Amino acid sequence: MIKSFEKSIILHYCPMKFYHSNIIEISHFVRNDNQLFIFGDVVRKRLRSFLTTSPIEIHLMKCHSERSDESIYFCRTIVIFLLLIISFTSCVKDKVSEQTHFQTTPYQIKIPKFFPTALNIPSDNPMTVEGVRLGRYLFYDGRLSGRLNPDSQMTCATCHVQSNAFEVGINNPRFPGGKTFGLSGIATPHYNMALVNLVFNKTGYLWSGFINQDNNQMGSTLYGVPSLPQYHYKNLESLVWMAIAAPHEINGSIDRTVNTIASIPMYPPMFKAAFGTEEVNYERISKAIAQFVRTLISSNSKFDKYLRGETNLTSEELQGYVLFTTEAGADCFHCHGGGGNPLFTTNLYYNNGKDSVFDDSKDRYSVTHLNSDKGAYKAPTLRNIMLTAPYMHDGRFKNIDEVIDFYSEGVLLTSYTNSLMHQAHNGGVQLTVNEKKQLKAFLNTLTDYEFINDSNYSKPYGLP
Ligand code: HEC
Ligand code: HEC
Repeated sequence: MIKSFEKSIILHYCPMKFYHSNIIEISHFVRNDNQLFIFGDVVRKRLRSFLTTSPIEIHLMKCHSERSDESIYFCRTIVIFLLLIISFTSCVKDKVSEQTHFQTTPYQIKIPKFFPTALNIPSDNPMTVEGVRLGRYLFYDGRLSGRLNPDSQMTCATCHVQSNAFEVGINNPRFPGGKTFGLSGIATPHYNMALVNLVFNKTGYLWSGFINQDNNQMGSTLYGVPSLPQYHYKNLESLVWMAIAAPHEINGSIDRTVNTIASIPMYPPMFKAAFGTEEVNYERISKAIAQFVRTLISSNSKFDKYLRGETNLTSEELQGYVLFTTEAGADCFHCHGGGGNPLFTTNLYYNNGKDSVFDDSKDRYSVTHLNSDKGAYKAPTLRNIMLTAPYMHDGRFKNIDEVIDFYSEGVLLTSYTNSLMHQAHNGGVQLTVNEKKQLKAFLNTLTDYEFINDSNYSKPYGLP
């Protein structure tokens, strides 16, 4: 660290024409007027030892070069120099120095027993404690709408409520019956989805899977999302922006949201802690919220504890589990998992035989354009299913009994019904009254009360 300055030296770095060759020796000399000249290729080491021993002030000056490739090299080298110099002086304050100095704490996702180990975390958005913390604040901050008036605010948590496993729930006072509307008053095209264990999902988000890693579409008129290079619609990061911008959700705009968040004094330091500088931008907002959403892991239902040998199921619950996982029973497990797939979803898309006419423009077909995907949707997780009525993408079933009745005797066989609906030709799996009770008792064991009460996921202090 250079603390006192006895003399001021101007540093010239001159690339030489053989700079790619190893035989170049580095040389430097200090002129009478205290200007330091360095020639040669890699001068890192030399510079470092020089800097550590010399209490000098350094100025960088470009020396003129005839060769254009040399000037490219020159630029690159200057960057190296800048970093070096910054790491030896505490007095240089600029963005580069802030970024080289900031340190984050890695956030380690604990993979629950029996869960898949592959995580969907993009390499350009590693999980950090600071990022998750910022994301949690933003997730719960109504000013994400870009408006300060409380009546014009909406947050992710307006529709994704922790006590309903981050679904909206059927008894939400703002959205009676679970039908959600955006700030503009326009209804969302589908009913809500729970935000649970999404970090384990690599096969697409939304009922249709429009957001997925293979998506090369830049925008979509169908989804009302702009075709701008900064959007990719590949992962949770882009979903955040869709939610903020969509008129049927937060109805914001990038500039307004960014400016509003940047104007709230607590945020710039949090952005600095998470990303190195105080700059607030759309990319950082979406990265932080996506990081928080990835921490929402549910793995402590009664059924999880049963799997881990920590508790027992009643015989009714156990019978329900057997029905759930046998083809001769209720035959749910092919699409909704079970003990071997405790996500309780395959995260894949099926037509489960509800209709014979398909007029929803945002079904799975809208993404793949495969005929077999008409009327198909993501099979949602059945974790916490008792908290997330009404059911299906269009909320047609108000309670779990209606769902069970449908699978038992309401299934339609059309040429689009997925072949895993093995009993579609019989109208369904034909359960007795008692079997329906057992199946329901089992579904009840999938509620994770620790998840919905976990204080790490709740609204943080200090928000309006
Ligand atoms: C107005 C209500 C509303 C708001 C506000 C809202 N969402 Fe949603 N969210 C929905 C609905 C409805 C869906 C299902 C959309 C579909 O597939 O048609 C959804 C789906 C999702 C999904 C997909 C889940 C999955 O399993 O694929 C994620 C992730 C998500 N929202 C995150 C967010 C985040 C983050 C915010 C805040 C930036 C947010 N949402 C704000 C209503 C809302
Ligand atoms: C062929 C695959 C498949 C099978 C088999 C299947 N489901 Fe589903 N399930 C789905 C799909 C796909 C959806 C979403 C459909 C939609 O929204 O239109 C769904 C939705 C649901 C929902 C509503 C979820 C929500 O959040 O709205 C419940 C509850 C459910 N299924 C329970 C069951 C039960 C219980 C069984 C066994 C009796 C079963 N499913 C068998 C594919 C399947």
